[in-house]
Parts: sequence; C-alpha cells; structure tokens
Amino acid sequence: MQAPCATAAIPVQSIVSNNMQTVTTIAELRQVVGAARRAGKSIGFVPTMGNLHQGHLNLLITARERTDFVVSSIFVNPLQFNAKDDLERYPRTLEEDQQSLIEYGCDLLFAPSESEVYSSDRASQTFVEVPGISEMYCGASRPGHFRGVTTIVNKLFNLVQPDLAVFGKKDFQQLHIIRRMVTDLSMPVELVGVDTARAESGLALSSRNGYLTKDELKRAPVFYAQLRTIHDALVGGSDDFEGLIKQAIESLERESFKPDYIHIVRRSDLQPATPKDRELVVLAAAFLGQARLIDNLEVDC
Ligand code: PAF
Repeated sequence: MQAPCATAAIPVQSIVSNNMQTVTTIAELRQVVGAARRAGKSIGFVPTMGNLHQGHLNLLITARERTDFVVSSIFVNPLQFNAKDDLERYPRTLEEDQQSLIEYGCDLLFAPSESEVYSSDRASQTFVEVPGISEMYCGASRPGHFRGVTTIVNKLFNLVQPDLAVFGKKDFQQLHIIRRMVTDLSMPVELVGVDTARAESGLALSSRNGYLTKDELKRAPVFYAQLRTIHDALVGGSDDFEGLIKQAIESLERESFKPDYIHIVRRSDLQPATPKDRELVVLAAAFLGQARLIDNLEVDC
C-alpha cells in the first residue's frame, strides 16, 4: 500500500451533513482520513456500490463497533460489470444513501466519479487478480468480474488505508477472493465478514432484488429454501451431493428460475467438497426474470 500522501492544505469541497462529510476526490479523502489517523483514531472501512439496504448498514454497525472513524465508499465500479446495460441500470440513490450512512454513524463518505478513480485509457489500466478461484462459480459466469472487484478494492484500500474493512458474507466468493488478495499481498488490513441480512421470507437482501416484479418477489424465497433443504440434508448425514444439487435445480426450474450453478464446496478454499469435509458452504446463483440472484449457506456437518 502507498504511504499516506503529504498533508498540504487542500481545499475540501465537501458536503458536511450532521457529522458526516462527503468527499468526491482522492485528495480530499486522503486529507480527511489522514487527519483522523493523526488524531490517533483507528479507521474502519465499508466499501459499497450504493443503493444501501439493511445488509450494508449492518456492515456499518460492525465498523462503528470496532473502529473510531468509519469511512464508506459508494462507487459503481465499471470494471466489475460485464454487460454495459447491467452497469447502466444499476440503481444509483446517492441522497438516500447519504441519509442512511448519517443515521448509522458513518464519519466520511467517499463518492468519486469514474474519472477520479480510473484513467480514461482503460486498456492500460493495471489490474490485481487472484488466479484460479476468480474464474470459478460467479467468475465463470461473469468473466473478469472478480478482477474488477480486486482491482477496485485494492485501490480503495490504498486510498483509505483502513485498519479494518467489513464485507458481507452474501458475496461469499468475493470475500474469499479479497482475503486471498490481502494475504498474498501482505496488506495490513483486518477483514471482517458479516452474516447475510435476510427478509422474513429468507430472501437475502440485495440491490438486485429491485429488478424483481411483484410476482417474482413472491417466488424468490424458494431460492433460499432450496439452500436450506440442501443444508438440512447434509447436516442429517447425506453425502449425495449430486443428487441434492439436481433436486434443488429441478425445484428452482419449476418456479421459473434459470439456475446458473449450485455447488457444495469446502469453506476453507472453496474447492469442491468431498464427503470427508466437515466445514462446507453451498454456493448458488440463479436468474429470476431480469435479476441474477446469488446466495450461500454455511454448513457444519
Ligand atoms: O460488494 C460490492 O458492493 C462490491 O463488489 C465492492 C466490494 C464494493 C467493490 O466494488
């Protein structure tokens, strides 16, 4: 990670609302975080793409509990989207998000433009990539996605230099890949994973749930229900992984889902599990209408 930048006075053109400051440039971000660090505060960081829901706010709560100065970022990262239309339709709700962040005690919001973060010459952009696992599961369906995630997270870590960063376990593969990056590159940041926030129906909260029609929203909880069925069978002693996955896929198809994948993997390295493994996670992705839903469930056999 880079050393903190020099602290010459930079005019901060920020919105100060209650106690939260919103900054849009790297220079402002470094100035404000540098001041907090010089005041002896530990820095917590919650990177997001905005359109915040309770799942994100739970990450804020964890950062607030564990550190003195909480920074969040809202940046819809073009490098992690494969399809231009997916990037364009991604919900942008900055004002509501600012209100939520204020309510949950965020100290500083970094909300940069694309040109502040990346040079216009995308072809010469430096990437950070965790090989192997980045091409599996979600990475197989969305080539380049995780390279985009690790590149932006690395960059944000360089900018904020947090002591602790908080991520949701809903993106279980993403968190695993970021852990690998942090370990492999000896980055001085503690990573904390927070449990998935769910609606009463079990549906994992996600910005993409907004793409579901009313009727699809009613059917969406079947996705989590199928993961629970696999979970219960595994805990009950079943080692028929293929059979369990086949049944779940058929049940989803009956409800008009288009399953992308369901895998039963080892939690430690996300490689395919064997019946001898005890700490597992079921990873799944499926389309329902316009939305690509992902979810997972940890299993201790
Ligand atoms: O999980 C997300 O919202 C994004 O992938 C992240 C970590 C903010 C990087 O853009």
